[in-house]
Amino acid sequence: MDITETILSKEQIHNRVDVLGRQISADYRDKELILIGILNGAFIFLADLVRTIELEIEVDFIRVASYGDATSTTGTITLSKKPELDLTGKDILLVEDIVDTGTTLAWLYDHIATYQPASIKTCTLIDKHERRETEVNVDYVGFMLNKGFLVGYGLDYAQKFRNLPEVCSMQE
Ligand code: IMP
Ligand code: MG
Repeated sequence: MDITETILSKEQIHNRVDVLGRQISADYRDKELILIGILNGAFIFLADLVRTIELEIEVDFIRVASYGDATSTTGTITLSKKPELDLTGKDILLVEDIVDTGTTLAWLYDHIATYQPASIKTCTLIDKHERRETEVNVDYVGFMLNKGFLVGYGLDYAQKFRNLPEVCSMQE
């Protein structure tokens, strides 16, 4: 696999994250918002996103183990890191790097619901909507893309390339 082209520049990402942060700040005024980043992929997006939100928020992380090959999720998901804050009665925003088939986010939505929060919404930097297999509502979408396999800005290929500052495509 080689990196072929830049799909999202630093500036495009920066501008879009800013817009999302303003939207979230407006929507959650007077709420008790907890952003939950889905590890590992969402760590960079979440770090930038929280700094654009002008509210008193809390941050937590969750991690799932899913069994698949290097480029897709097959559907067997288990929790490998639980959230540590008390989510009951709180407004939860699940933050993902990329939603592909939707399997991971749909599973996490149902899992978070068991803590009986006041509300659950979802946010992703990239939505590969055309590849959806499991229905899941995505409330805040950075970019709708359908450009093959992507790396950078948190996204990995076999755990590498998360540190690229731009989102790039990869090809055999
Ligand atoms: P889903 O369960 O099929 O929606 O897959 C979501 C997960 O698959 C994401 O959290 C990523 O870890 C991974 N994934 C899906 N597409 C890509 C991609 O283009 N680049 C890197 N990771 C991806
Ligand atoms: Mg991921």
